[in-house]
Amino acid sequence: MRWGMMVYVAMSSVAVDPDKLRNALVDRLRRARVVRSPAVEAAFRRVPRHVFLPNTAPVDAYRDDVIVTRWEPDGLPSSSSSQPGIMAIMLEQLDLRPGHRVLEIGAGTGYNAAVMREIVGPSGRVVTVDIQPDVARDAVTHLAAAGYSDVAVLAADGGFGHPEGAPFDRIIATAGVTDIPPYWRDQLVNGGILVVPLRLRTQCLSVALVRDGDVLRSREVECCGFMHLRGAFGAADPVVSMGDGLFLSGPRADDVPLDLLGGLLAQTPRRVNGLIVPVNSFGLGGGLGVYLALQEPGVVDIFTTEPQRWGFHTVSGLLDVPARSLCLIRRDAVVVYGTDRAADRLRARAVEWVEMGQMGLDRLRIEIWPSGRAPDRPGGWLLRHRGSDVVSWFDG
Ligand SMILES: C[S@@+](CC[C@H](N)C(=O)[O-])C[C@H]1O[C@@H](n2cnc3c(N)ncnc32)[C@H](O)[C@@H]1O
Repeated sequence: MRWGMMVYVAMSSVAVDPDKLRNALVDRLRRARVVRSPAVEAAFRRVPRHVFLPNTAPVDAYRDDVIVTRWEPDGLPSSSSSQPGIMAIMLEQLDLRPGHRVLEIGAGTGYNAAVMREIVGPSGRVVTVDIQPDVARDAVTHLAAAGYSDVAVLAADGGFGHPEGAPFDRIIATAGVTDIPPYWRDQLVNGGILVVPLRLRTQCLSVALVRDGDVLRSREVECCGFMHLRGAFGAADPVVSMGDGLFLSGPRADDVPLDLLGGLLAQTPRRVNGLIVPVNSFGLGGGLGVYLALQEPGVVDIFTTEPQRWGFHTVSGLLDVPARSLCLIRRDAVVVYGTDRAADRLRARAVEWVEMGQMGLDRLRIEIWPSGRAPDRPGGWLLRHRGSDVVSWFDG
C-alpha cells in the first residue's frame, strides 16, 4: 500500500510537471516542422499555456489540441484556446520581429497574445480584442497571472480593428472570415502582414497577406480550421445548426435543404472505391479542396460537436439536391449516401484537377481588393463581399 502510494506520487509528479510537458509539446511541434524559427520556439517554451486554461489539467493543456472554453446554448463553441500547432503555423506566417506593434482579433484566453508579446519584446506592443466582454475579462486575468499585464485587452468588435492604436506592423485574426474587413488593411502599415483564417467558400485557409497600397497579396497559404468571426463582418459566414450536434457552414449554408441532408445522413453510406483525395485533420485538404470549394456549387462543409457519434469532426462533401445524393470525404474513406450522382461529380472534378496539374496550396494566389474594385481574372475566381473582394487563382 505504502509502495503503491509512493509510485503513484512519483508518477503523477512527473506526469504533471508543466515545464516538462510544455517542452515536450514544443519538441513535437519542431519535429512536425510547424515551429520553424528560434523566436517562435523560444516563445512557446516560455509562455505557460496551462495558466491561460485554469480549468484544464496541465496534461491536457499541453496536448496539441484546441481547448474549447465557451459554448453557445446550441453546442457551438464560441471561444477556445487554438490548437498550438495551428498557432505556430500562423505565428511563423506572421513573421514577428522585436519592436513590432501587433493587433490580434480574437483574444480568447490571451495565450496567443502572450506568445506574441514574448516575440515582440518590451519595445513592441500587443493589443488584443475580443467581442465577448467576459472572454476579454478572463484574458486580462490570465495575462496578469502569467506576467504579461502590458498586453492591452479590449472588449469590442474587432472587425473594425482598433483605429486608436493604428498603424500596426502586423495584424492577426484568430477567428475565421469570409469577408475581410477593410479596416484591417487600412490599419496596417504598407508592407505589413495580415494573417487570417480565410474561408474560400467552404475551405478554410490560413493566409499571410502583405499590404501593397489598397491591395493585400498572399505570400503563404496553409490549411487550418477556425470558429467564425462574429459581429459586423461575420454575417457573410452563417453556421446553421442541423440538430444532433451537426452544423453546416459556408456562404450558402442557409440555402441547403436540411431535411434532405438529414435524411441522407440517416442512411447507411456506401464506400466509394478508386477515388484517392487528399485529406487532413480539417477535412478535404490541399489544392483539390480549394478547387472543389470554388468550382463546385454543391460543396458543403459539415462539422460536429459529437465526433465520436458521427465518426468525423469536420468533413467536406458534395450535395446534389435534385439527384438526392451526398458524397462525404471523410479521413478514412470517401462515402456516398442516396444515389451515386454526387460521387460521380466529385470524381469528374478530381479528374479535372489532375488534368490541370494537381496544383497545391503553394501555387494558390489570393488578393484582397477594396469592395467592387477587383478585376475579373481569367481562369481565377472572384468572390465579391461587402467589405472586400477576394480574388484567387492557381499560378502556372
Ligand atoms: C479561437 S478563439 C481565439 C483564441 C485566442 N487567440 C487564444 O489564444 O486563446 C476566437 C475568439 O474570437 C472572438 N471573436 C469572434 N468574433 C470576434 C470579433 N468580431 N471581434 C473580436 N473577437 C471576436 C471569440 O469571442 C473568441 O474568443
